Amino acid sequence: RRTAVLISGRGSNLGALIAAARDPAYPAELALVLSNRADAAGLDRAREAGIPTATVESRPFGRDRAAFEAALGGKLAEARIEMIALAGFMRVLTEGFVTHWSGRMLNIHPSLLPAFPGLDTHARALAAGVRLHGCTVHFVTPGVDEGPIIAQSAVPVLPDDDEAALAARVLAQEHRLYPAALAWAAAGLARLEGGRVVLSMAM
Ligand code: GRF
Repeated sequence: RRTAVLISGRGSNLGALIAAARDPAYPAELALVLSNRADAAGLDRAREAGIPTATVESRPFGRDRAAFEAALGGKLAEARIEMIALAGFMRVLTEGFVTHWSGRMLNIHPSLLPAFPGLDTHARALAAGVRLHGCTVHFVTPGVDEGPIIAQSAVPVLPDDDEAALAARVLAQEHRLYPAALAWAAAGLARLEGGRVVLSMAM
């Protein structure tokens, strides 16, 4: 399935998806990397991998999310995109856009949802004193970080952890989890039905 990866920055998850998609049997074809910032480092990763890139700067649109999304939609349509993987995309999408892509748009979040939605997840996990932390891939629904969960990976929180150490441990899991979860969704093995995720792969 023709998939667009939407980024705003570093793009390390994009890098993991690019590596996975090099396998001709991988069910998602990375057909576009779309950024809302022209300076996103992830764009260079995409170019090096020969994946088409596009940028729609969000800043000039200000609060006009609908106009920004119309521009995004134009790029997605031009590239005949069928699925979207948000990977460090730092703009909240409107209900209209999210509903249009319902069941076809995934996000990765650096916590074990529903714990710690939003930003600064690693600092908040340390402050809360949780012993397990991790990452979640979910279908995107209008509530930020609230969508039905496809897959999660947990890591221990160790006594000497600081935010950077914990973030690195989680990120290593993100890079394993996202390629797997996107593959399931692209192959139709993880589907959104009636607001719930239905998995049909042999576990
Ligand atoms: C990741 O931690 C991801 O979970 C979160 O934003 C970060 C993006 O990192 N949504 P990268 O750009 O993929 O390196």
